[in-house]
Amino acid sequence: MSGPSRVERLPRVTGYDAVRAAGRDFERYSSLHQGDEDVRTYRQLPLESDPPLHSALRAFLVPFFSKGSLAPFQLGIEADARDLVAPLRSGKLEMVRGVGLPLVVRTIARLLDRPGDIEEWSSWGPSVWGDHDGRRDGAALLAFLERAVNEGAAGTGGRLFNLLASTPIAGVVLTRDQQIGVGSLLLAGGRDTVMNLIAGIAWMVAAHPTHVAALRGDVTTRTAFIEETLRLTTPLGLMERIDRGVGGGDPGQSPHVGLDFASANHDATVFTCPAELRLDRPASSPHVAFGIGPHACLGAPLARIEAHAVLHELLTIAPNGWSSTSCDAQFREVGSVKIPASFQRLVVVAG
Ligand code: HEM
Repeated sequence: MSGPSRVERLPRVTGYDAVRAAGRDFERYSSLHQGDEDVRTYRQLPLESDPPLHSALRAFLVPFFSKGSLAPFQLGIEADARDLVAPLRSGKLEMVRGVGLPLVVRTIARLLDRPGDIEEWSSWGPSVWGDHDGRRDGAALLAFLERAVNEGAAGTGGRLFNLLASTPIAGVVLTRDQQIGVGSLLLAGGRDTVMNLIAGIAWMVAAHPTHVAALRGDVTTRTAFIEETLRLTTPLGLMERIDRGVGGGDPGQSPHVGLDFASANHDATVFTCPAELRLDRPASSPHVAFGIGPHACLGAPLARIEAHAVLHELLTIAPNGWSSTSCDAQFREVGSVKIPASFQRLVVVAG
């Protein structure tokens, strides 16, 4: 069993107002660092950058996540969800490797326009850092990214890698390492986060059977349920920043801190009874599960499409709900309540 990670051991910015303010204040709370030192030697971009490079990278990526770009994926994602949830008809369904993993790799293949890589990405398991008895390894991801960047340069890398190789960003074409950094984030950012959201939704429905009738009939209720699951589970609970102080000091000399999105989402001064799933939370205090400020998640609309597709299929096959028969998860304590934050395995049965 591994202990807390380096980021988990950092001092934290906690609470709704402080986290929202810090997330917006990129001049004080810089993202100019490189994480995951055990598995990579490049920055994941645009995540680990500050303006002006960050703004230019983000402007390049935004069109890939626009409504118009994602709309053509919707039917395909719904068909994938139908196919993956279908085994529930004949008994039980495993939500992590059985539904979440295949759905996210198929979805990322659509986004990157690389359908031929689905099998390779699936073989890494739930994390891009692989399945090695608890040890992380960046070699398989890097080998893939080297290949994709070469193919991008040759114009055969799929839409995103082709454009990355040829588009001036802030006036210059990205270096090879920067292209690798963008590809790495797109492969990693929407993988275990979405898998945990999908398992989290299945777990929450099983834990709150009284909501099933409302969920069955009403898309607005489903939206509220998915957003409450995002708040409660906060799949990406902690992100690193460099606290440059009020005057914006040298990032190389400044302390690193954790931006605690989970604590913000469970702040009792903002969310009454924060450990409870409530579908009528006021819209005036949105959760920060997708972050806040300039780095707020680009993939949020895509994650929401995937979540709705799976919930719809589960409710179609099991209109009276389901129960969980086996759950292997890491739980986060909210007050006296334990809420799952990440899942290794979740088995559900209908009825
Ligand atoms: C439930 C699913 C997801 C959750 C909870 C989540 C959460 C987050 C959070 C909290 C951040 C902000 C990080 C920070 O402030 O340092 C972020 C950024 C980001 N996410 Fe997501 N994410 C999800 C899905 C996705 C998907 C599906 C994609 C794309 C395939 C994606 C791509 C990104 C990118 C590119 C950024 C960096 C944005 C920037 O730095 O400007 N995410 N995500």
